[in-house]
Amino acid sequence: MTTTIESFAGEDILSVNQFDRASLSAIIEIAHEMRVLVERFGGAELLQGKILANLFYEPSTRTSSSFTAAMQRLGGQVIPINNVQYSSVSKGESLPDTIRTLECYADVIVIRHPEVGAAATAAYYAEKPVINAGDGVGEHPTQALLDLFTVQEELKQIDGLTVVMVGDLRYGRTVHSLTKLLLNYNVSFIFVSPDILRLPADVLEAVKASGHSYSQVDDLHSVIGETDVLYMTRVQRERFTDLAEYDRVKDFYVVDQDLMAKAGKNMIVMHPLPRVGEISYAIDDDPRAAYFRQMRNGMYIRMALLAALLDKA
Ligand code: NCD
Repeated sequence: MTTTIESFAGEDILSVNQFDRASLSAIIEIAHEMRVLVERFGGAELLQGKILANLFYEPSTRTSSSFTAAMQRLGGQVIPINNVQYSSVSKGESLPDTIRTLECYADVIVIRHPEVGAAATAAYYAEKPVINAGDGVGEHPTQALLDLFTVQEELKQIDGLTVVMVGDLRYGRTVHSLTKLLLNYNVSFIFVSPDILRLPADVLEAVKASGHSYSQVDDLHSVIGETDVLYMTRVQRERFTDLAEYDRVKDFYVVDQDLMAKAGKNMIVMHPLPRVGEISYAIDDDPRAAYFRQMRNGMYIRMALLAALLDKA
């Protein structure tokens, strides 16, 4: 395939800053091929003999199981460690030692951890590729890639769109990664949140420095008519030190039939999931509700990434 994707062989995936338009197009193209492959044949034996260590220090349903499915559909195998309380971590083992252990057995390590920078620390100690599956309020690069892939699959373009990010822009790592990734494209941003949940300064600075048009508002209804991609997020309860503050903002935005009636017919609703009230179940059958298709796309993008990192793309 293209040279840009070959340069990912053996690399870590820690931040969306590692990608440019050429590598993004290549990954999107491979993810699309993976989709066709799965739909036709269920998978392939590309990664036969390879093992992935799936190390989760924070809860996960989609990220962890889609990495597992991605590896298995490509013929590889998985060491799942998602109950770290039953691993030597509970005996006080350090992250570097846990990583050094896993790379004795695996060819690639996926890590989710509550601390910003933990994946980079893991990568520093590991010789094998490390993939950041979420480092606290930092980044979640593979989610951003699957989000980007979803926009391309759904709307057949990324340039020219108005992307509206809603909810917990402060603590939502998927928002941080997707916003930075979208700076590679000619999009306009509208950031919708209560005051206390606005984008962190460093992400906002990156948007400003890039010259992209953006606005920050607190009312969703007033901008829904101009929305192409509505990116909803959950208020991240586990990141709040003051739960009274969480209670004040948790129900600020709800996508319901009333809001959808004001939205364009070609817009899409996305959400990294899990949802905890911010999208009404009543709109699940609306063709514009893309979040279940988005979730499926996670497996295709992770198949593409694993193939690229293990030099089989
Ligand atoms: C997200 C995460 O873990 O950051 N979930 C996911 O990976 N799909 C979003 C969230 O937890 O709200």
